[in-house]
Amino acid sequence: MARHVIAPASALPPGERLVAEVDGRKVVIFNLDGAYFGLFGRCPHQGGDLCLGRTTGLVEAGAEPGEYSYTRRGEILRCPWHGWEFDIRTGRSRAEPARVRAKTYDVEVKSGAELFDGPYQAETIVVSIEQDYIVVQA
Ligand code: FES
Repeated sequence: MARHVIAPASALPPGERLVAEVDGRKVVIFNLDGAYFGLFGRCPHQGGDLCLGRTTGLVEAGAEPGEYSYTRRGEILRCPWHGWEFDIRTGRSRAEPARVRAKTYDVEVKSGAELFDGPYQAETIVVSIEQDYIVVQA
């Protein structure tokens, strides 16, 4: 499994997304409060572009009728084609989590100094030991 250096970590602040090409495939990478997650850019339903999906959260019922709470803001990705929703942390579908999931990629942040221990692929960006970088395993 190769590790791909995608971008400086500073290019992806919390709450934002970044689209990268990894081994010829589009991957959308999210920063959820400092934790990084990657999803394959094609929806497992009919191939919609998940990179263009809106993010949302969960509306959960409270203990009493009429009570609800909105949680996990920005952690659910909705496919722009038919609205299927996926948990960004796991790739699992909200409707059928045991059966349907978007492919996930491990994403981590490495210091420039650590990257010199390789092996990494960094064909498109210059790496310096003074910065941290987003690294995807694929
Ligand atoms: S292609 Fe994504 S919900 Fe249909």
